[in-house]
Amino acid sequence: MLVSGSGSNLQALIDAAEDPGFGGRIVVVVSDRASVRALDRAEAAGIPTRVVEWSAFADRDSFTRAVCDAVADAGAEAMVLAGFMRILAPVAIERFPERIINIHPALLPAFPGAHAVRQALAHGVKLTGVTVHFVDEQVDHGPIIAQEPVRVFPDDDEASLHARIQQVEHDLYPKVVSAFAQGRLRVAGRIVYWEGPR
Ligand code: GAR
Repeated sequence: MLVSGSGSNLQALIDAAEDPGFGGRIVVVVSDRASVRALDRAEAAGIPTRVVEWSAFADRDSFTRAVCDAVADAGAEAMVLAGFMRILAPVAIERFPERIINIHPALLPAFPGAHAVRQALAHGVKLTGVTVHFVDEQVDHGPIIAQEPVRVFPDDDEASLHARIQQVEHDLYPKVVSAFAQGRLRVAGRIVYWEGPR
């Protein structure tokens, strides 16, 4: 799993993966910065951690290669991004084709990027939500695996809306990652088909 921040989605996945039927296991947690809460959560769960400092690399490509190496060294077969706030270079998709999953706090293709909740509020949408998708070469763009709506209330601010979005994330992300780990997601072009229960 790749993280940058508080790691509440990481925690939801750690908890879900305790179920023997989950289908996979988290073998390493990689962060682009030290001293984030997500790393504490991983350590508390006994999961190895690696820090690949963004600032230690000359460019996105060499940073991405180092992230991929950390993931591969741990024996991981896929990457799950949970609040990872760096854009990976295309080399990551070459090394893990259809094996990188991301969660985004909006209904893509609306509001891609790092400030999705703020932008949804500023735009005045009445409905936003959560998207889980495969990562491709473009930012917040790859084939959509699952989406759930979240209503925007008139008195919402960024914090209150993001908190409701995160409640949905913590329910949806483990379901998607479990289905992926069980080999129940099939990608055909832009369309992702689920086999078996949702
Ligand atoms: C999540 O809400 C996730 O959707 C968002 O960052 C948050 C991380 O929270 N990701 C993006 O905005 C990606 N563009 P967490 O660290 O508590 O899981």
